Amino acid sequence: MRKANFISGLIKNLTIRFFNKLEPLNGLLQKKGYVIFKNKINISKCKSIDLNLISELVSIVINNHTIQKTIKDYICFPRLDQIRLLKSPRVKYTPQCEWHHDSVGHRIKIYIGLDEILNKNVYTEIVESSNFNSYFDYNITRLVLTEEEHLSKKIKCNIKLGDVFIFDTNMIHRGVYSKDEVRNVIELEFSSFFRGKIIPGKVGYKKNRERNLLDKRELTEKLILDKRSRDFLKHCFFF
Ligand SMILES: [Fe+2]
Repeated sequence: MRKANFISGLIKNLTIRFFNKLEPLNGLLQKKGYVIFKNKINISKCKSIDLNLISELVSIVINNHTIQKTIKDYICFPRLDQIRLLKSPRVKYTPQCEWHHDSVGHRIKIYIGLDEILNKNVYTEIVESSNFNSYFDYNITRLVLTEEEHLSKKIKCNIKLGDVFIFDTNMIHRGVYSKDEVRNVIELEFSSFFRGKIIPGKVGYKKNRERNLLDKRELTEKLILDKRSRDFLKHCFFF
């Protein structure tokens, strides 16, 4: 418990410094489709990722008013769909490794890194500024890049403990995995209350997206949120 407090204290200081520098977070997200906060402090000797550490990391992100405002400005009636632990598969290939969008319109995913060591072989790759591409058929999600997209800047988003990666899954992205290594993240997912009502995408309805969900009741008890953040989450229909 002491160890978790110490580590998240470091991350908290660092994250607040990042966020203060990035007031126009929404502008960045609109323009590029993603934002990444790299944790420059070397946090070592974190032996176990327990619910205490996870709750503290989630609290830091949810308590951030810039992030709250960004989500509210970006998503029409945002809803927090789920918080889960995501472990990348130990494979070289899955359909997620092909360029795709998630077929559910604008949806924000926030990954909070949990690995002490930066794993260079497992990452999310994105086509910068592809978040406002419109897709006429949301049932066809796997894409062959257009010539323009081939020329667009590709970003490899590696994250480790304390890094925060925010992106719109409407942008073109893919997962790069490894048979030998895994990437562990906390994933928070925000989409519009209207998702599924006006957009016929099916990716978001796959059964396997329910796996590794963090227990809502346990998590709620552990989260240390200020009133504004609690109201924000209530507004997001999660609690
Ligand atoms: Fe995806």
